[in-house]
Amino acid sequence: MLDKFEKRVLISVGGIIMIFIFSLLYAKATSQIDLPECLPYNKTYETPKVTKLDSNLYQVYAVAQMWQFQPAEIYIPVGSTVDFYGTSKDVVHGFDIYEKNINIMAVYGNINKTTVKFEKPGVYKITCHEYCGIGHQNMQAEVIVNYPDAK
Ligand code: CUA
Repeated sequence: MLDKFEKRVLISVGGIIMIFIFSLLYAKATSQIDLPECLPYNKTYETPKVTKLDSNLYQVYAVAQMWQFQPAEIYIPVGSTVDFYGTSKDVVHGFDIYEKNINIMAVYGNINKTTVKFEKPGVYKITCHEYCGIGHQNMQAEVIVNYPDAK
């Protein structure tokens, strides 16, 4: 038999979880932002690489470690869509593309995926936004859209 108080706590927690799920779905439906997803961990994601899947579709395995991102420079043509798979080789890092409103975490043993479309030429900075030690403020990479015009 549930205690009255216990029942109330369960109902409120359930309600809060529902609100949380609803706001996630709402955000996904109303903004163009793709929600980051967590993928099953696999060692192959620890090898940084840029793969061209199609003329306008790229796949990037972004690896964070103290205090750098690899690949440090990612060259793509304008109009490309990039699937980023982010992970870390050591501590928790951030993966932020300010101009594209992208903000995911790079966590050891964990893969976070997000999709970004680059409609305009330019150099987009990837920065670490999670304090990760003495070299944190220098931890950057770049997405270079339409090189060499962009640089
Ligand atoms: Cu990596 Cu801060």
